[in-house]
Amino acid sequence: MRKPVPFAIGPLSSFIAADVRRLAAAASRHDGLEPLSEVPLLRLELDEPWLTHVVARSHSGGVVGYAQIDRSGADASAELVVHPSYRRRGTGSILLATAARDAHLPQFGGEPGQRGKRLTVWAHGNLDCAQGFAAAQGYAVVRELLLLDRSLDGAGQGIVQGGRAGGQSGDRLAAGAGDGIRLFSPGADDQAWLALNAAAFASHPEQGRLTVDDLHQRMSQPWFDAEGFFVIPADGADDVGHRGLAAYLWTKIHPATGSGDEGGGDEVAAGTSGEVHGEIYALGVAPACQGQGLAKRLLRRALAYLAEQGCSRVVLYVDGDNSPALAAYRAAGFTQAALDVQYAALTI
Ligand SMILES: CC(C)(COP(=O)(O)OP(=O)(O)OC[C@H]1O[C@@H](n2cnc3c(N)ncnc32)[C@H](O)[C@@H]1OP(=O)(O)O)[C@@H](O)C(=O)NCCC(=O)NCCS
Repeated sequence: MRKPVPFAIGPLSSFIAADVRRLAAAASRHDGLEPLSEVPLLRLELDEPWLTHVVARSHSGGVVGYAQIDRSGADASAELVVHPSYRRRGTGSILLATAARDAHLPQFGGEPGQRGKRLTVWAHGNLDCAQGFAAAQGYAVVRELLLLDRSLDGAGQGIVQGGRAGGQSGDRLAAGAGDGIRLFSPGADDQAWLALNAAAFASHPEQGRLTVDDLHQRMSQPWFDAEGFFVIPADGADDVGHRGLAAYLWTKIHPATGSGDEGGGDEVAAGTSGEVHGEIYALGVAPACQGQGLAKRLLRRALAYLAEQGCSRVVLYVDGDNSPALAAYRAAGFTQAALDVQYAALTI
């Protein structure tokens, strides 16, 4: 017994954006993890020609489904969620069909035979519902994003280079001294950081495309703290690097929250909400400086910093096919905690 559900496409008012955050929070409580990641949540009120918002409402007017489609990259990328009480009624199918139609439309008219972009869809945690839904829609996994984590118990007393916390051998980590690392300087380092980030993530579909506005938006978030943003200047660069950066590691601290988080925050994994935990938010080394141990040095500093800040655990995301990064993280004691996947239609 399926009744049609009202759908609307267009920018979201701040009230509807708040409804979408509540919808995401309800799904998060039900599913045990956030259905929408940080970027779509930051863009809920953004109105751009390459971004599409689709809202599904119940017959009483409540927001029960949401899809966001980003057509700015080589592929179009969507995230979608349906309220737990409104699932298996065809809402997700209509959201996905709308997203696919949006992605496949050509951006410019005028030439016959044009087609738009391939649609990819994120499924955080690759839940059973997402797997069943994707299979029913003819979508298959095209990318895996691993959530890794490690404990920091006892790490304030020293993090062992091989990754075990509080061990008996290995280097003790006094923050700072002689490791060539300094803190990111907001403003002065912005352009150098953007150049480094674009070079380090040249083949990464999201991170490599960050703009100065994206950087400033993140720096204006309540969690931003330059004390947890580490850089290594390029050889010969100034102390505050107008002349280039070789590597960076940006951390983020997620405060402990109660189980009834209504804020639609950006918890990164089930089970992290009750404790203060850190995140290796991004780590990039310039291609010319890779293989010199800079990532290892930055990781040691970051883990020591996060331990000092009271984090009991650290998480990070890494692409499943990024072997060098996976090796560096595993050597630093990280193991897999969860898996996000990206789906794409088998045929378009
Ligand atoms: C995945 C999700 C969007 C599906 O939304 P929905 O409105 O329930 O989907 P539909 O009702 O359109 O389902 C269409 C078909 O998908 C399949 N499907 C959907 N949920 C399923 C489940 N839990 N188990 C198995 N198959 C499922 C079924 O074949 C279903 O048809 P049927 O109900 O006639 O059997 C929703 O469960 C959700 O919000 N999950 C959390 C967020 C998420 O994982 N998003 C990523 C999606 S790729």
